[in-house]
Amino acid sequence: MTVDTSSLRIVELDPDDAHAAEASYAIHAAVRAYGQPDLPPPSRHRHVHLLRLGWPGHLEKHWLAYDGDVAVAELDVSLPQRDNLDNAWIDLHVRAEYRRRGIGRRLYELAVGYARAAGRTKLMASSWEQIPDGPFRDGAGSAFARAMGLGRVHEETRRKLYLSTVDDALLDRLLADAYAHADGYSPVQWTDRCPDEYVPDMAYLEGRLSTDAPTGDLDWGPENVDAELIREMERNRAIMGGRAFHTAVRHDATGRLVALTGTMIEHGVPEHAWQMITLVDPDHRGRRLGTIVKIENLRLTVAGEPALQAIDTTNATVNRHMIAINHAMGFVPIDVEAEWQVSI
Ligand code: ACO
Repeated sequence: MTVDTSSLRIVELDPDDAHAAEASYAIHAAVRAYGQPDLPPPSRHRHVHLLRLGWPGHLEKHWLAYDGDVAVAELDVSLPQRDNLDNAWIDLHVRAEYRRRGIGRRLYELAVGYARAAGRTKLMASSWEQIPDGPFRDGAGSAFARAMGLGRVHEETRRKLYLSTVDDALLDRLLADAYAHADGYSPVQWTDRCPDEYVPDMAYLEGRLSTDAPTGDLDWGPENVDAELIREMERNRAIMGGRAFHTAVRHDATGRLVALTGTMIEHGVPEHAWQMITLVDPDHRGRRLGTIVKIENLRLTVAGEPALQAIDTTNATVNRHMIAINHAMGFVPIDVEAEWQVSI
């Protein structure tokens, strides 16, 4: 679909068009460099493959906005296909030098029209905000979301662990203390591909995150995660050149995995890792299993990625148990991700 105006051309992105994919990458990289300069540039290889593959279980579309020949903004809309069928996620990026000209509003109106036509009744988005004493964030995303009528329904804090600050002796003590509380449990580790025997447990634990982690007033229901989805995510990650490190804890009496965490490294960005889901089954909480998986997985990741310098994690600001573990390991707060939702 192409919408022409005298000054702005909005074109649906064809993921197989190498020029369009490169333009999309350039916009994402520029918006990140301006908005969150503590993060490395996103992986180009991952970006262009992700445009083609999409997120498993989601239908995704992308539009580029051109001023003349210059791609200045991008709209990404993601429609969940397996659950949460009333919601649509949007991501809007306008290059800093093209802001406050109505481009964001035009793309937002396009997103609303598209989501409505697809039968969705709710729209969600997120934006980054500065925290007290944190690095500068301009707050444009939140001001824009408010101006478009979205409500601020939830917030997550991003924290970063600089590996140069890690105190290994302290982690040894935390880990020894945690194992003393965890009789009858054993750690299990793997990279990239979950062993067949554990895939159902991994799917169960990953699916629980959508109901167990605090999500404020966000109207978002349980996610339908099964073994097939886990394998599709792993296949896609391999195509995108990413690596994953996982640590779980097995309950020896039942043989089931009852705690899980993971980190992910993007292709071409070996100095940086993203923390993935951490979850302890509710029946097995209070035994320091969260501490065990996080510290053991940090060590697995560092051993596998010697160039690693930092890990970023995002948790609900009110998730005090998870935050206490991260704080003890040395993660420091950087900024806040505000989540927005509106009925359309
Ligand atoms: N300060 C105050 N109000 C603002 C700001 C700002 N920095 N930016 C936008 N607004 C409000 C204003 O009411 C503006 O209308 P006005 O200019 O007539 O006063 C209205 O939003 C529409 O602004 P646009 O010019 O259409 O928006 P723009 O093209 O500048 O894009 C965007 C806004 C997408 C937020 C851009 O700043 C950006 O890419 N930021 C980084 C990524 C991001 O945060 N994305 C949005 C997430 S929230 C969401 O998508 C609903």
